[in-house]
Amino acid sequence: MKTIVLASQKGGAGKTTITAHLAIAAEKAGDSPCVLIDTDPQASLAAWWNGREAESPAFASATLKELPAKLKALENAGYAFAFIDTPPAITESIRAVVALADFVLIPTRPSPHDLRAIGRTVELATEAARPFGFVVTQAKPNSRLTVQAMAVLSAHGIVAPAIIHDRVDYAASMIDGRTVLEVDPRGRSAAEIAELWIFVKARIEENNKARKNEKTKARKEEGKKNG
Ligand SMILES: Nc1ncnc2c1ncn2[C@@H]1O[C@H](COP(=O)(O)OP(=O)(O)OP(=O)(O)O)[C@@H](O)[C@H]1O
Ligand SMILES: [Mg+2]
Repeated sequence: MKTIVLASQKGGAGKTTITAHLAIAAEKAGDSPCVLIDTDPQASLAAWWNGREAESPAFASATLKELPAKLKALENAGYAFAFIDTPPAITESIRAVVALADFVLIPTRPSPHDLRAIGRTVELATEAARPFGFVVTQAKPNSRLTVQAMAVLSAHGIVAPAIIHDRVDYAASMIDGRTVLEVDPRGRSAAEIAELWIFVKARIEENNKARKNEKTKARKEEGKKNG
């Protein structure tokens, strides 16, 4: 099982919205089963999931202390991907969650305030040596700010080519426990989210490959040393 953690120090950047949407996008792409985990005391993701009629994705609750064991149990139960929502702060608790990630996705609005705040979230991921990437969220159409934000972000790390635009349907679809992928599967928002999932999955696969190559290289070198 691979674990994707949504994190950003800035409140309202779109962590909860993207956590829910990505899990549905993954399942729609055949990358199932998925499980959602909410580590935010605001419990917005849990509330959304409780309002949902569909059976999947699953939802698991765990305290921070239980989280590592819970992830192991979910993996043993056959889940392919876990998506974890976090609260907007830099605390020890978020540090612990980030450390469990196979990929940390950092949603960032194209605003100077959000861009100034990314350093601390990036620090979290780099300190834990976890792969991370950015996604620009709530972008206004044809805005120069979006282009500038992508440039600023790319100096700090990889940026998803999929831009999540500011559209009412993202919020409206979540009122009754759904997502844009279910309310308007052919819409532009659904296409953005599907593209974002392709990016996240590809990053995870690439990191996997790199790790395997490193292991093989280390083993070969060890073999040479031992004659
Ligand atoms: N792409 C979007 N277009 C329009 N509205 C959006 C979009 N993404 C999120 N929103 C709205 O912006 C607000 C903040 O989004 P969300 O709750 O997902 O952010 P968050 O990072 O989880 O916030 P918090 O830091 O408080 O947990 C919500 O009201 C949500 O409905
Ligand atoms: Mg949230």
